[in-house]
Amino acid sequence: NQGQALPVAESQPSAEPLTILYGSQTGTARGIAKQLAKDAEAQGFVVNLVSMSDYKPKQLKSERQLLVLVSTHGEGDPPDDAAALHKFLHSNRAPKLPDLKFSVLALGDSSYDQFCQTGKEFDLRLAELGATRLVDRIDCDVDFESAASQWRQSVLEKADKGTGSGQVVPLNPSLVSAESEYDRNAPFAAPLLLSQKITGRNSIKDVRHVELDLADSGLRYQPGDALGVWMDNDPELVTQLLALTGLDGDTPVAEETLREALIRRYELTLLHPALVQAWAEWSGSDELTKLARDGETLRPLIQSHQLIDLASRYPAQPDAEQLLSVLRKLTPRLYSIASSQAEVEEEVHLTVGLVSDQRDGEERLGMVSGAFARRLSEGDSVRVYVESNNNFRLPDNDDTPIIMVGPGTGIAPFRAFLQERDARGASGDNWLLFGNPTFTEDFLYQVEWQGYAKSGLLSRIDLAFSRDQAEKIYVQDRLQEQGAEVYAWLERGAHFYVCGDMHRMAKDVEATLLTILIEHGQMTEQQANEYLERLRDTKRYQKDVY
Ligand code: 2AM
Repeated sequence: NQGQALPVAESQPSAEPLTILYGSQTGTARGIAKQLAKDAEAQGFVVNLVSMSDYKPKQLKSERQLLVLVSTHGEGDPPDDAAALHKFLHSNRAPKLPDLKFSVLALGDSSYDQFCQTGKEFDLRLAELGATRLVDRIDCDVDFESAASQWRQSVLEKADKGTGSGQVVPLNPSLVSAESEYDRNAPFAAPLLLSQKITGRNSIKDVRHVELDLADSGLRYQPGDALGVWMDNDPELVTQLLALTGLDGDTPVAEETLREALIRRYELTLLHPALVQAWAEWSGSDELTKLARDGETLRPLIQSHQLIDLASRYPAQPDAEQLLSVLRKLTPRLYSIASSQAEVEEEVHLTVGLVSDQRDGEERLGMVSGAFARRLSEGDSVRVYVESNNNFRLPDNDDTPIIMVGPGTGIAPFRAFLQERDARGASGDNWLLFGNPTFTEDFLYQVEWQGYAKSGLLSRIDLAFSRDQAEKIYVQDRLQEQGAEVYAWLERGAHFYVCGDMHRMAKDVEATLLTILIEHGQMTEQQANEYLERLRDTKRYQKDVY
């Protein structure tokens, strides 16, 4: 019965669907995955776009075409939402996958060791299990745009869309819902309403409360989301760099001058290994060459210096083309949003800690935080977009208690959580743990917490001012002191959130949580680990750490 295809036949196209699986701590992999899904749909693929945290590992066996986008977190670890799948794949429960075709896009940051480690592991393991690569893995650095778009294009060229009708498996509605026209590639120019220092005059920190106006942008965000902020480099910094290298800022490059390109398009405040190595070569400095050779010395150098430090200490005269070929493209910075639209409507608030260092008698500032602290005035516009983060969300149920651990600028998303819960009239208990150096100088948003404590929205607040006494007291010490209570909250179904420093704080808090489970839950170490893993898998333990 040719030409009389039944509707049911049409909805079963002959090609296998293309599953696009993403995992990342921030929204980067998800953003690229979404773009890929759109392209694939437009080309007639049957697409299934899914977060690793929502993916049932058992489903792997029935996949035929799988595209994996995954970032690497911390020191070569999988991001939280990829952890369970990663573990399953590497266990002996993982099935053989001889019928699977796949490709991996690995995301990472070359200024850390273990660059793209998690992506490499997915790639290797899928091949070990018998799957075939559609195209080779591509590893992306923080300026991922061009590598990622190349991968998107080549996987779709190689994948099989069959003869299907282009029938589309409905995407998760939150992924395709009508969105603002503004995004990473087309940010909104938001007027700066306020940038106010909220640490005291004698504080060792400079933390600002920043308010931006999103009116008429259509931009919407949820508590837990981040704001991507694009910023030009400080023109003064570029002037200094040009002087130190002897380069002429008026040199034409592409459609602009070298000076304009350095201001608008290249990363100058963060170093990466290839740049340090190239600089060592250009300068002929034995000292820098040695530092660059060994990861042990290269890493601290990268983490606490800028290009301008290299240029002033190790004079070099690269030509413009050489320099630009090694510099990474400028990337936006992500800030956890510190407000809820239920409270502030068309504004967005941030809590911005100034990144600054004194070096050779000069102040070295972070690109975005330096601009908020020193360069921008009210009314100036800032290019922003919303980076949604489904890995950091309030419980769906307003009765669920939450524990929020947010020392330093890690407080930001909890201000959003509390504003939201307040506006919703959510009845669940809220427990905030905050820490900073001193009570008098660094009690961020003190008045607001006091108001919430008074109104009853905050059921508990525990403070750890580390330098107000001889011995350091940290948020995890407060957790430990309240261990029985923490355990009781968890047993009542509480969600546990951590935001802030990833390298020390978040690890120490996790270790403390395990201790609490062992002590107050009478668990063995293994049981405590399993308990925590269950919390993570059920999205009751969420981290927004940096
Ligand atoms: P410190 O600087 O006095 O050591 C926010 O930065 C707060 O986090 C500060 O009070 C800081 O204390 C504290 N802090 C430093 N290391 C920490 C860690 N490993 N765990 C928790 N808090 C920490």
